[in-house]
Order: sequence, then structure tokens, then C-alpha cells
Amino acid sequence: MRSLVIGSGGREHALCWALRRENPDAELYCAPGNPGTAEIATNLPIAADDLDRIADAADMYGIDLTVVGPEVPLARGLADRLRAEGRAVFGPSAAAAQIEASKAFAKQVMSDAGVRTAPSGAFTDLEPALAFVDRQSEPLVVKASGLAAGKGAIVCTTRSEAAKAVRWLLDEGGLGDAGQTVVIESYLEGEELSVMAVTNGKDVELLPVAQDHKRLLDGDTGPNTGGMGAYSPVSIAGPALLERVKRDILFPTLEQMQRLRAPFTGVLYTGLMIDPSGIPWVIEYNCRLGDPEAQSILPLLSQGLTDSLWRAARGQPPARINVARGAAVTTVLASRGYPERPEKGAEIKVPDALPSGAIVFHAGTRRGEDGALRVDGGRVLTATGLGTTFLEAQRISRQTAESIQYDGKVFRHDIGRREAARVQQRRPIGASQQV
Ligand code: AMP
Ligand code: GLY
Repeated sequence: MRSLVIGSGGREHALCWALRRENPDAELYCAPGNPGTAEIATNLPIAADDLDRIADAADMYGIDLTVVGPEVPLARGLADRLRAEGRAVFGPSAAAAQIEASKAFAKQVMSDAGVRTAPSGAFTDLEPALAFVDRQSEPLVVKASGLAAGKGAIVCTTRSEAAKAVRWLLDEGGLGDAGQTVVIESYLEGEELSVMAVTNGKDVELLPVAQDHKRLLDGDTGPNTGGMGAYSPVSIAGPALLERVKRDILFPTLEQMQRLRAPFTGVLYTGLMIDPSGIPWVIEYNCRLGDPEAQSILPLLSQGLTDSLWRAARGQPPARINVARGAAVTTVLASRGYPERPEKGAEIKVPDALPSGAIVFHAGTRRGEDGALRVDGGRVLTATGLGTTFLEAQRISRQTAESIQYDGKVFRHDIGRREAARVQQRRPIGASQQV
């Protein structure tokens, strides 16, 4: 089978890595890929949203399965385009990708499907938006409805901060077109989980549950980012909770998408808030694998990924995906200035000998003409640690992140802090700390 992965981030490196592991001899391409994917696949120098050239390349290389990593090409209709040419694509149509590309649309889907989510309003005009803010209780979250690479949600402690955020988006064009519609919603308390399902639009196969770390700095402080680290599995995501997520969220959402004649195939990602009584609320949907969640989840899959993607891409129920025992923790290495203005160009040194269980996935890197690896984006690399226990995986991820060197390296030292606290609580009194 000839496969093509679309994208150039850590998620796409992890996708190539997982597909390569299951298919050591298969032809594997990545467009445009990065220096990491170049080691395990053939990179094609085509931008992820250049639909014409991707369609030509799929033709030229006789691609059987295209797996689309990022949301932008999906929202622009890459899957529709390839499907119209008779190709199997793993990823939703542009109409179905609206579930991520328009938060106003997503909120309407949740409301019509009876899925629990924060009460909200959507606005394109300033005055009604400000009047709505005035009527809400604090805190509030103001969101750009469109795609904003993880920067579109502004958590506001007071109504006056919320009014400022609304003005910034609607009046000052703070996030351009993405913020021309705003969603204003109540703040939800609890613990976040990323639950992802492979789906053909009707049947689902859950992937291991992960927890992302959206804030830039240790202790969940600083601005929101695309994600600074993740781990999987998460001990609060037991079978009862996952059954509830399927019954109350995933199936009603998929049914609603069918009613809208926009059946969703691919990975349906639900960003959940688990409230203090254990009930899941939807914060957002994404139309693809999470990044950096994928870098924790994919290495844990022992069998069935390729088959599942292949079947779902052709409308069949996804195959069973087997998950290895153990845990994965992923630390994102970012560049100084991320998420606003990341510095680029510094030379990166990755040690030849990494700890056993460590995998380094590339994201914003490039090879210079001299062959040196250089920083080329906000999220530069991800350091995944695999271990038999969460604490072991956490230690390997952190050691690996520490051992990689470049000027301006920024990373969180507390990925998995909530899980670490739970592990400590479960330990007998007097047991020594391993981290
Ligand atoms: P979103 O862009 O909708 O994924 O939001 C990004 C992040 O902002 C989420 O992962 C949460 O950490 C936070 N957030 C968004 N909406 C809410 C909400 N209603 N209540 C609490 N936190 C939220
Ligand atoms: N890490 C969250 C996302 O991929 O949107």
C-alpha cells in the first residue's frame, strides 16, 4: 500500500512513525513533512494546503491512502478533492470539518444534538456582543469562531476583560477573519481530557485518552498555546466515563452531522471538561488528531492503526486498535517567543544516545544547507517517553527534553502534573518519590 501523510508537525512525524512501524516495507510519503519524517518517509515539497499539487502528487505516486494531519487543508476541502478523484482519504469533508473551523457551527451542533456544553452566544456585531457580556456572570471565555492555531480562546476573569477581548476581535480585527464571529461562553470548572475516536461517520473506535497542557508555563500559567505537552492514558478516564462520552457525546454528534448531510469521517476529537461530579462537557471539537496528544497516543498503539484508518477512509467500521500496556508522556520543546513571535534559526543538538523509551518527533525544524538542524517554528520538537509506568514515562520525557540543546529552548517541566499528584496519593505512606 502507498500512503501519503499531509502536514509537517510533530503529529505528522508521529503518524509516519506509527504507519512505518506497522508497514516496514510500504511506500510512505509526507507532504511537506519535516527533517524527522524525511528519515522514515519520502518528503514531497508541497504545502499542506496546496490542493492542486497534492492531487497531482497522489496521481503521480499512485497513492492508495491519504491521511490528513492538520485542520486547514481539511477545512479547505482537500478530502473532498481527493475523494472526487476516487481516492481513499482519512479525514473529513470541508462541510464536516466546520465542526472545528467554526466554533459557532460547533455550538449549534452541540445544542441540536443535546450535548452538554457551556451556555454561549455567537455574534458578528459589537453592540449585541457587549450587551450579552453585560448580562453574563464571571468568569467568561471569549473565542474567535474561526481557526486560530490554539490562540483563539481568551479566558476572562471579569466582564470588563471579556468586553476588551470582544472589542479586540470584532473591532480591531485582532485575529483577522477568524475573529469576525465571536463565541462568548461561561467558564467551566474541572479537569480537561482529550478523547479521540476513529470513525466512519457512524461507528467509533476510541483511541487512548490523553490530557493536553494548553498553557505555556509550569503550573498551567501563561497564555494558551497549541499545546505544550500531553500524556496517555489518564487514570480518571475509566470505562464508565468513556461509555458515557460515547453515549452522550460521540454518537449524538455523529448522528447530528448525518442529519446535516455532512457525515464526519476521520478522527473526531472532543476536548472535554470533566466537572467535579465526573460529568463530561464539551469545550470544543477538532476534526483531526490532537497535537501533541498524537505524539503520546500513537506510540502506544500496538496493532490495528493502518487497518482502522484504511477501513474508516472507505466508510467501513474502523478496525479494532490494540493498545500496549504502559504510559507515554510528551514534552513539547518550543522556541523563545512562542506563541506570539517565536525566534527561528538557532542550531539544534539532539544527543546521539537517548534514554531507552525516548522518541523525538520533529515539528518546527529544518535542515540548513550545511546539514545542521535548525529551529524553524514555535513548537520545535517533542520528546516522548514510553515507560511501564506513568512516572517512568514522565522521567524519560523530561530527561530527553533536558538533553536537547538550542538557544531559546522553552519547555514545561511539569507535564502530567495532575496524574503525578494522583499517583502520589495512591502510594502507601512512606514510599519514596521516584521523580
Ligand atoms: P478552545 O480553543 O475552545 O479549545 O479553548 C482552548 C482552551 O481554553 C481550552 O483547552 C481550555 O483550557 C480553555 N477553555 C475554553 N473554553 C473554556 C470554558 N468554557 N471553560 C473553561 N476553560 C475553557
Ligand atoms: N492539542 C490540542 C489540539 O491539537 O488542538
